[in-house]
Amino acid sequence: MIQKFVYGTPFETDAVVQKIDTTEGTPSYGTVNFEKGFCFTYRMDQDDIIYGLGENVGGINKRGHLYINQCEDDPRHTEDRNSLYAAHNFIIVAGKKSFGLFLDYPSVMTFDIGYTRTDMLTISCDEADLKLYVIDGESPYDIVKQFRKIIGRSYIPPKFAFGFGQSRWGYETEEDFRQVAKGYRENQIPIDMIYMDIDYMDHFKDFTVNEENFPDFPGFVADMKEQNIRMIPIIDAGVKVEEGYEVYEEGVKKGHFCKKADGKEFTCAVWPGYTHFPDVLNKDAREWFGNYYKILIDQGIEGFWNDMNEPAIFYSEEGMKELKELCIQFANEPDDKDRFWAFQGRVNGMANHPDDYRRFYHEVNGEKVCHEKVHNLYGYNMTRAAGEAFSRIAPDKRFLMFSRSSYIGMHRYGGVWTGDNHAWWSHLLLNIKMMPSLNMCGFLYSGADLGGFGADTTRDLLLRWLEFGIFTPLMRNHAAAGTRMQECYQFEQVEDFAHVIGVRYRLVPYLYSTYMKAALQDDMYFKPLSFVYPDDSMAAKVEDQLMIGDEIMIAPVYTQNAAGRYVYLPEEMKQIKFLPDGSLEETILPAGHHYVEIALNEVVIFIRKGKCIPLAKTAQCVDQIDTSHMEMIGYEGEYVLYEDDGVHMDYEKEENYRVLWN
Ligand code: GLC
Repeated sequence: MIQKFVYGTPFETDAVVQKIDTTEGTPSYGTVNFEKGFCFTYRMDQDDIIYGLGENVGGINKRGHLYINQCEDDPRHTEDRNSLYAAHNFIIVAGKKSFGLFLDYPSVMTFDIGYTRTDMLTISCDEADLKLYVIDGESPYDIVKQFRKIIGRSYIPPKFAFGFGQSRWGYETEEDFRQVAKGYRENQIPIDMIYMDIDYMDHFKDFTVNEENFPDFPGFVADMKEQNIRMIPIIDAGVKVEEGYEVYEEGVKKGHFCKKADGKEFTCAVWPGYTHFPDVLNKDAREWFGNYYKILIDQGIEGFWNDMNEPAIFYSEEGMKELKELCIQFANEPDDKDRFWAFQGRVNGMANHPDDYRRFYHEVNGEKVCHEKVHNLYGYNMTRAAGEAFSRIAPDKRFLMFSRSSYIGMHRYGGVWTGDNHAWWSHLLLNIKMMPSLNMCGFLYSGADLGGFGADTTRDLLLRWLEFGIFTPLMRNHAAAGTRMQECYQFEQVEDFAHVIGVRYRLVPYLYSTYMKAALQDDMYFKPLSFVYPDDSMAAKVEDQLMIGDEIMIAPVYTQNAAGRYVYLPEEMKQIKFLPDGSLEETILPAGHHYVEIALNEVVIFIRKGKCIPLAKTAQCVDQIDTSHMEMIGYEGEYVLYEDDGVHMDYEKEENYRVLWN
């Protein structure tokens, strides 16, 4: 049962697509007060587990921390952080009383989950203009499924997007990309995508290609596709301010950029230097911006990643002016440590400054809306612009699309990658814990920068991360400029990488089938153990093992120099070890705790009792996976495989399902 409460005058986010009547009165759980904006409080039982919040720091159980849902570009995802790039305001209280809450509010929202007082859950925001959905259900899993129904079907990518992709900030020329393709193909490490970061563009101008570096871009894209490699370019939120640049000139002429109170375009610096932000919250501007994706689609491009769409701001024109004045003032006053700290703080705080988010406006249904009030919707609507455009440009074709920033609702238009993590073992663990939370909020096509984006990775970290990454729908190795080269073929014993990624390709038929079932049934791809074993109090505590679909459990290794790890089995399972020589080692393990040895070049999965899954021969790309000759692994029984052409939208056909027996 879902109740909807409407407070004040909420901004229409389109997060919820199902019509739900408004309930009068007060929610059955907690207390709502309006003394300072909006505040919901609930006294938690000692044993209550709090799930949700999608992309944020912390564990699967969110208790004991303060989370601030505010889309923010800050690459240091340390434990003490409160926000990442997304704002997913859905949580579940699970205990003697279980219920879900979705707070549809597009600005900053704070979730104090036993942080100020260990037994108090306090959710607050500055203005009491929001919709609150309260979901009653039999279990947290049931609550998720009800929630997912009302927010609409999750984005479905093309099948090639289940392959492996290589990315790096710094590839510039056609030759750079060809080298990467060569490195993978020559070493027989499977690959389906190479991502193009900002340097493919002409001076970081969206929808342009540097012609010197790519004299025949469509020819190059076609040539790579011949090798079964799709080129996936980045699109940034900021449009470069430059006379003669079509997107800029047209945007100004048509009034499609965000404007300041005085009606002039808001100008701020991002990668291209000064830019304007397309007003993607405005329907016409969204359509206008979305249409530009066609420029690249017409050149053979079948997928994109949307970036810097919190939106990230290095500094604004006004901010820089203020800073320069401050510098002059600072230079002319006597030295003083307090003044120095204040000055340093101002310089360091230039990026993503709250004042800048107050300086510009969106025009929605004829009304000016200050960006600050709808901040968390920007990345969502940039991705929606693309998604809506794809359905105009090629209505029956699927495109790969994922975004850095997101809000619930965006899950219908694209996936997410979890932003600028680091080559830290703790970020591998964070990646594991974040996946089920993202699924709860509808984001099924998701993944992290494998190997770590910032800082220098190590061979073992990359391998261990890939061993988890083979299960994340988005599987991409991405690294920042200036870090150690991180392509798999840069390391010794390349065959280990070929083996591990090869296991992904063996599993693609199963993983794709699991993904499609989850998307089509508003279900989860990754689940916490507690969702599958609700009566097992031990399972509720496990945060470093995940269930995938109805059949398997994974227990990734996430510590350096480990030869294996402890694994908890809530029931008997068949452990399958993918050995580096391509063979499988099968062991039946009884329920309980086990130490499982997992060498650096091995992949282990656990198949649930009575379940089986199909396994293909490995392939160098998704298109070459042979699904007509697959072996079955696991227990005796049957498995219903979902399979389609992976290109079109005709998901509902009955012949997409076929029964396989073991
Ligand atoms: C941002 C993105 C990162 C990208 C970089 C350069 O930091 O998060 O993935 O490589 O910008 O475009």
